[in-house]
Amino acid sequence: MKRILVTGALGQIGSELVPALAARFGSDAIVASDIRLPPAGQSGPLGHFEFLDSTNLRQIQDLVRRYDVGTIYHLAALLSASAEEKPHVAWELNMGGLYKILEVARAHRCKVFFPSSIGAFGPGTPKERTPQETLQRPTTIYGVTKVAGELLCDYYHQRFDLDTRGLRFPGLISYVAPPGGGTTDYAVAIFYDALRHGRYTCFLGPDTRLDMMYMPDAVSALIELMAADPQRLVHRNAFNVTAMNFTPAELAAEIRKHLPDFRIDYEIDPIRQAIADSWPDSLDDSAAREEWGWKPVYDLPTMVADMLDKLRAKLRL
Ligand code: SER
Repeated sequence: MKRILVTGALGQIGSELVPALAARFGSDAIVASDIRLPPAGQSGPLGHFEFLDSTNLRQIQDLVRRYDVGTIYHLAALLSASAEEKPHVAWELNMGGLYKILEVARAHRCKVFFPSSIGAFGPGTPKERTPQETLQRPTTIYGVTKVAGELLCDYYHQRFDLDTRGLRFPGLISYVAPPGGGTTDYAVAIFYDALRHGRYTCFLGPDTRLDMMYMPDAVSALIELMAADPQRLVHRNAFNVTAMNFTPAELAAEIRKHLPDFRIDYEIDPIRQAIADSWPDSLDDSAAREEWGWKPVYDLPTMVADMLDKLRAKLRL
């Protein structure tokens, strides 16, 4: 079997995708790569680990050749709030990195996964049950790179017959990777502060509704989409997927069912609030359900119960 290369392997999605791929295909089949080094002792059982600057074409090419790579999960990118702080870096990494991955994939006939996002939509997009195909005029640099990335992946599919596939992820919630520069990160940080301090100060307003997904569902979506029969895929880049949607106030109320004394207050960050306000409230993911059988497992109550359990164990509380 040809190997699977994961870029951004130490990031939000990669931290959980790599072990899942290793469990499914065997650790020798996985090449985890990142621009950071893994914490001591982490790389061994989870596959090969390699340093990779994914804006460097030669480095990508070298890894793809050396490990006989057949599939690339290209996850290395800045999230929305970090990208807004450093728009030039975001363009260089999110767009330049993808272009180079696609060029190497074209030469070596690799399949490519590209993570798009609710950030690929903008204020003019219908907010409720946002359709698979709709107006996409995002107002953030993150969104610009996501729309351009979707189009570029479709272009490589149509023009060069490359097998490119992508998902428009909502906010992702995980107990493994700490919050890392996203607008939806409040929905991760809230759990740490709830368990450690019994209170959380939220940077988004109480009624800001956004789609969300628990990471085990996101990892299943990634693996299932890449395994899907290409004949059934009408769309490719990128499928709307969602599992739940809620506001900070509703998430706090759900946490309170487990921690009755939990308190939330709000100190709105205008930049992240504006980003969140430009995104949909809820996505229509029927194309993913029809074309490759997408079906999430976790909803708000089951996600909150599991997050609290897993984080309690992780933080030794
Ligand atoms: N979770 C991402 C972010 O907030 C959106 O894709 O940046």
